[in-house]
Amino acid sequence: MKIIVTGGAGFIGSNFVFYERKKHPEDEILCVDSLTYAGNLSTLEPVMNDDKFKFFKIDIRDRDSVYRLFEDEKPDIVVNFAAESHVDRSIENPTIFLETNIIGTSVLMDACRKYGIKRYHQVSTDEVYGDLPLDRPDMFFHEDTPIHTSSPYSTSKASADLLVMAYHRTYGLPVTISRCSNNYGPYQFPEKLIPLMIANALADKPLPVYGEGKNVRDWLYVEDHCKAIDLIIRNAKDGETYNIGGHNEMKNIEIVKLICDYLDKPYSLIEHVEDRKGHDMRYAIDPTKIHNDLGWLPETAFADGIKKTIQWYLDNKPWWENIISGDYMNYYEKMYGNRKVLD
Ligand code: NAD
Ligand code: DAU
Repeated sequence: MKIIVTGGAGFIGSNFVFYERKKHPEDEILCVDSLTYAGNLSTLEPVMNDDKFKFFKIDIRDRDSVYRLFEDEKPDIVVNFAAESHVDRSIENPTIFLETNIIGTSVLMDACRKYGIKRYHQVSTDEVYGDLPLDRPDMFFHEDTPIHTSSPYSTSKASADLLVMAYHRTYGLPVTISRCSNNYGPYQFPEKLIPLMIANALADKPLPVYGEGKNVRDWLYVEDHCKAIDLIIRNAKDGETYNIGGHNEMKNIEIVKLICDYLDKPYSLIEHVEDRKGHDMRYAIDPTKIHNDLGWLPETAFADGIKKTIQWYLDNKPWWENIISGDYMNYYEKMYGNRKVLD
């Protein structure tokens, strides 16, 4: 099987590439990534020389390049991770979110229609459901919870989801969608809560908590997300949507304190700063459907996953220090000199 993984130089996409290479070594992985600020080719170094791995520097909005790739490679499955993914950046500049997350998705699906595909999978987010109140712990996001977005980011992702379902109904495109809660783990860009707090704490810099830090997120170890997507692309019926989450709700302030404790840093580093505009209060996923249909269950308990993650950032300082210094941007030039880069 040939699988196109878009956004494979980013956080979850790269973890998915590693998961697939290990779990299904017989499959060929074609990674498509335009290497925005969030894409880091050095992350993919461990698989770069594999026979069954190819990297293509392509923007998913670039119709000609995407069509050429499909024509040349004739993929069986597309898993679309490529996106602008950071809520705060979407508040600063929504346009690129609409272009990549909506238009890019439509270009990929047009290619799937034109050249034929067994499965197009859209990696979506629990943020499409909006937020839940803090005082109703009995409430969860179900697959039929109405879409009710808050930020330009979540709105762009919800728009893409609607488009995916429209291509399914109108053109019969064989699609699936997954909506996952907050991921954490290795290779997450240090603009997101957990890696940002680890990097700042290690440098004894202030830890900027938005507002009171009472907002709740439902954290899932990234490998558990990858495993769920793998099950969906191979076993789910066309047209299905699955929520993915591990029932692990935590307040932001609890996460930040836990990181301080682990790194032996004082809580005095914590600085409550101006809140995010339109800040969603609580996310909480009901993953019953994916458990019942596909047998998925999260395997990594948060207590273990967070320790592994903090230890990974301690053991891989050059990876995130290069990001903070901007050096990782030069890595692409270096890699393209003598590596298997095909477009
Ligand atoms: P990320 O920002 O770490 O990575 C995104 C990747 O997409 C980068 O490698 C970037 O270079 C690439 N990209 C961006 N625009 C592109 C374009 N126009 N063409 C080709 N490549 C492009 O994001 P992530 O956190 O790994 O998220 C991956 C996907 O999962 C996104 O679709 C996101 O909405 C979704 N998601 C993320 C989370 C989370 O907690 N991080 C949770 C649920 C869903
Ligand atoms: O729920 C899934 C979503 O999770 C994904 O769709 C997004 O791509 C991903 O970025 C993530 O969105 P969040 O906005 O929840 O993640 P972020 O790490 O940006 O923030 C997590 C929480 O921490 C949120 O309540 C805002 C808060 N926060 C974040 C940062 C960066 C802070 O308090 N301080 C910070 O500096």
